[in-house]
Amino acid sequence: MGIVILRQDDKIDLWKKALLAADPEIPIYSFLEEHPRDEIDMALVWKHPKGSLQHYPNLKCIACFGAGVDFIFEDTERPLNLPITRVVDPKLASDMSEFVLGQILSHLKHFNQYKVDQLKKVWVMRSYQRIEDVCVGIMGMGALGMALATDLLKLNFNVIGWANSPKENINMPIYTGEEQRNKFLAKADILVCLLPLTKNTTGILNEELFRKLPKGAYVINVARGGHLVDNDLIKMLDEGHLSGASLDVFHTEPLNTDHPFWNHAKVHITPHIASVSDIASVTPQLLDNYKRLQSGQPLKNVVSDLKGY
Ligand code: GLV
Repeated sequence: MGIVILRQDDKIDLWKKALLAADPEIPIYSFLEEHPRDEIDMALVWKHPKGSLQHYPNLKCIACFGAGVDFIFEDTERPLNLPITRVVDPKLASDMSEFVLGQILSHLKHFNQYKVDQLKKVWVMRSYQRIEDVCVGIMGMGALGMALATDLLKLNFNVIGWANSPKENINMPIYTGEEQRNKFLAKADILVCLLPLTKNTTGILNEELFRKLPKGAYVINVARGGHLVDNDLIKMLDEGHLSGASLDVFHTEPLNTDHPFWNHAKVHITPHIASVSDIASVTPQLLDNYKRLQSGQPLKNVVSDLKGY
């Protein structure tokens, strides 16, 4: 038995240390060090090198360090028929909600524009929008979407959601499926994408969808770059149909330095930082699932192979 960590950023040692501090008995390895591959039964992954999972003959579970598992499904050389788990964590949800809230307020009150004005020593008073006059449409009403909606409602925003199925325990209009998508879009002054990236949602943020939004709508993509058709966004911004976009995720990360988004006045870029798994908060659930695996209990937060999330 043992755990291997596969990720290509500089966080392997931080995670390994936290996992070992929480349970020093479990053999935990970085994929970069010498390790007994046939003893590994759980792989903890975040954007692992494609194909690297096939070298563990006794692997029983692939556990994602984050909420989105699209990169695991994209690895067609992974061992198939293994359970894949994802992170569901209140901090991940509240961090996302705080980030989106910041983007929304910044848009309504023109904070980005005032910074540009300041650098040019320009004094222009811009008319602002009020929370009560704005409708935020959230695409994707999973754990993150629900947390965001709850926070926005507390602040008096008009909030609507678009989801596969109706949601209970939340007092707001939820539009479901393809049939109700256009009705949802027609009301969304600010569109927030929090969908999982699957074959059904790839490229969903495209010209056709943007044209269904009210003129002057603002788009926030904090899900995955693959949801967005970049050129369609630029076209809609340049035509003036959309007033701006806040993008935290991109097809290629880091975003290529020659990408037109960098210099576009209506695009606000952040480096995939909206919500990052908190090591202290997430470590216990990774270890809990590891122990469940050992004792044959059902794993928590298993994603559906069929749905891809
Ligand atoms: C971040 O992008 C995540 O999926 O957790």
